[in-house]
Amino acid sequence: MADRVWIEDISKHEGKEVLLQGWLYNKRSSGKLHFLQVRDGTGIIQCVVFKGDVSPELFDLADRISQESAIEVSGIVKKDERSPLGFELGVSHLDLVHEAPDYPITPKDHGISFLMDHRHLWLRSSRQHAILRIRHEVIRAVRDFFDGKGFTLLDAPIFTPNACEGTTNLFSTEYFETRAYLTQSGQLYNEAGAMAFGKVYCFGPTFRAEKSKTRRHLTEFWMVEPEMAYCDLNQDMDLAEEFVEYVVQQVVRNRPNELKDVERDIEVLKKVKRPFPRISYSEAIEILHRKGNSTPWGEDLGGDEETLISEEFDRPVMIHRYPAKCKAFYMKGDPDNPDTALCVDMLAPEGYGEIIGGGQREDDYETLKDRILHHGLSPEVFGWYLDLRKYGSVPHAGFGLGIERAVAWICGLKHVRETIPFPRMMERLTP
Ligand code: 4AD
Ligand code: MG
Repeated sequence: MADRVWIEDISKHEGKEVLLQGWLYNKRSSGKLHFLQVRDGTGIIQCVVFKGDVSPELFDLADRISQESAIEVSGIVKKDERSPLGFELGVSHLDLVHEAPDYPITPKDHGISFLMDHRHLWLRSSRQHAILRIRHEVIRAVRDFFDGKGFTLLDAPIFTPNACEGTTNLFSTEYFETRAYLTQSGQLYNEAGAMAFGKVYCFGPTFRAEKSKTRRHLTEFWMVEPEMAYCDLNQDMDLAEEFVEYVVQQVVRNRPNELKDVERDIEVLKKVKRPFPRISYSEAIEILHRKGNSTPWGEDLGGDEETLISEEFDRPVMIHRYPAKCKAFYMKGDPDNPDTALCVDMLAPEGYGEIIGGGQREDDYETLKDRILHHGLSPEVFGWYLDLRKYGSVPHAGFGLGIERAVAWICGLKHVRETIPFPRMMERLTP
């Protein structure tokens, strides 16, 4: 029997007989020929069954075989300039491993809620496949970037006793005799890590009970968060732009076929090169006023405002120094203007909105304690966090990138729901 190979590696086997193990993706026939589109999880290849080459039983089987049936196919690998893969298979054997009756997702159009209900099967479609391979590439690039710079990976807990990003969107759960909250961000633990390891990152799922049904919000999403000791806001922005450039260019380099499958304009992504523009919140408000949006100074920027601002630039833009009252309790105030915080949001171009949030942290014990009280939080619960300001406190900063928002932008998708294998949103907990 021929050796089993993966479709992705098919070019290495030109002229040889190989065995493919996969599923029938699609099929068409014309008289003496059946064209089977076979997928094995690494790619799709056209397998040609020619009546003159095979037994009548096998030719008949190729005719009857249904979409998504599991099959094993063997034959000779042939060059074929017309196919996207560059190769096809001349079939000599075909085995039905498992017959799939009435596969629900047919090549015709289906509505989004039908597809979401069938997410466990929808993952097999070539477009979803491409998006999730790009997600994998993004995650690989994220890890390579920080590992290559000597950051230590330090995982933050999922069960926490306190809020990080405000109390309005916390998921709470029973924890024996007490309550626990699902983490909104690993940042506070990262700060302890930065004081122990100098530079750290955490990468894991984070949770927000977002009541908003927007195209940018999930209730469970993955965030990568670096944190550095002896780091100020400018150095934090330097790292953020180098990081985003690296991630995008790795995808452009390593996943050109998948970007083509999702019909992404690669030229737009190639422009994502440093330096990225940096503007203050006040400058952002001026841009908005010039464009006829009347958001007053002091108000947070919403999705519409972010779109208007990002339209002005052909690469991501960093907005720094928001009004302190729009931001979380841990942000360090700007010594030059205490009403503003030393924070930064990075907005992706083309109206994709915020992909990164971060900044410099308050490192003074008394100031931080006041802010905790001012935000109605408990100094007892944050005792450990305050300790970091007691024992060798230094300026430190970091940021968080939402993986799904980044993937949506890189793939050019309207909604984040297709960027994670099984999305969790306000109205979706299944499959
Ligand atoms: O701006 P956020 O809330 O920042 C933090 O959590 C900081 N503690 C991070 C840090 O400094 N270490 O969230 C960071 C990013 C956002 O820019 C966005 O990309 C993503 O997380 N994000 C979401 N993605 C999907 N669905 C949601 N509901 C999201 N909320 C935030
Ligand atoms: Mg934010």
